Amino acid sequence: MKRKGILLAGGTGTRLWPLTRAVSKQLLPLYDKPMVYYPLSVLMLSGIREILLISTPQDLPIFRNLLGDGQSFGISLSYAEQPKPEGLAQAYQIGAPFIGTAPSCLILGDNFFYGAELGKLLTSANSREKGATIFAYQVADPSSYGVLTFDSQNRITSIEEKPAQPKSHWANCGLYFYDGRAVQFARTLKPSARGELEITDLSRCYLQDNSLHGEKFGRGSAWLDTGTAEGLLQAAQFVQTLQTRTGLLIGSPEEVAFRHGWIDARQLLALADAIGQNSYAQALRQIASDSR
Ligand code: TTP
Repeated sequence: MKRKGILLAGGTGTRLWPLTRAVSKQLLPLYDKPMVYYPLSVLMLSGIREILLISTPQDLPIFRNLLGDGQSFGISLSYAEQPKPEGLAQAYQIGAPFIGTAPSCLILGDNFFYGAELGKLLTSANSREKGATIFAYQVADPSSYGVLTFDSQNRITSIEEKPAQPKSHWANCGLYFYDGRAVQFARTLKPSARGELEITDLSRCYLQDNSLHGEKFGRGSAWLDTGTAEGLLQAAQFVQTLQTRTGLLIGSPEEVAFRHGWIDARQLLALADAIGQNSYAQALRQIASDSR
C-alpha cells in the first residue's frame, strides 16, 4: 500500500503573538514562501503524493485557498479540521478515515529541514514497511522537545516528552513514519497530564513492539525552530543565504513535483508565470530551462 501523508498545521502559535493572532504561523512567510511549503515539500521529497492537511476551522479555508486540491503540484490534497490543539497524536484520530490501514508519514507544519542527506533518509524511511522511523537532531537545549536516548548500536532506548532533566541532547524532530498500525495504536492513547494526545506515546507503542527505528541527522543538516520571532528570522536568513548563493530553491513544492516528473516543464513554467516576476518565479524558470 502507498504511504499517505499528514501535514499537521494547526496549533495556537502563542510564542509568535501578535503575529499569529489573525493567522496560523504556518501561513507566515519564511523568506520567500509560506512556512507550510517547507514541510509540504519534505513529504513530497519522500515520494508521498496523497496528503491530508489538518488545521483549525479558522485557518483551513486559507490553506485551501493557497494550495487547492494539490493538482498543480502533482499531488492530491484533502483537508480536515482540528477544532482544538489537543495534541499531535490526535492527527491519527482525525485522520483515521483518510489513513485507514495505510502506512503514513506525519510532519508538523512548522518544521524546517535541510541537508544533503535528507533525500536519502526520507526515501529509506519511506521504504521501511514494518514499524516506525523517527528522527533525532542534536540541540543545545532539548528540554522543550521529545528527547531520545540511543544504545551503542544506535537503537532507541527511551523517549520522553519535554523532560525537566533531559537524558541526552537528541531532540525528536516533527517527522514520523509509521506503519499501517498507527490509527489502531492512536485509539488506545489517553490524554497526558497537560491534556494532549502525545506523539511520544504513539511512538512508544512502537518502542514496546520493538519496531521503533531512530535516524540521527548529522551535523551537516539543519532542523530549525520557526516557532519564535527570533527563530523565524534566523530560518528566513538561512534560506536567503543558501538560495542567493546557489540560485537553487529550498522548500519549493513546484521544484520537487518537477524533479519527480509529477509535472512537466510546460506546467512548471505556467506556475512560474502565475507567480509573475520575482526571484522565486525566476528560479523556477531556470529549473525548467536547465532541464531542456
Ligand atoms: P507547537 O510548537 O506546540 O505549536 P503551537 O502553534 O501550539 O505553538 P506555541 O507553543 O507557540 O503556542 O506545535 C508544533 C506544531 O504542531 C505546529 O505546527 C502546530 C501543530 N499542532 C497542531 O496542529 N495541533 C496540535 O494539537 C498541536 C499541539 C500542535
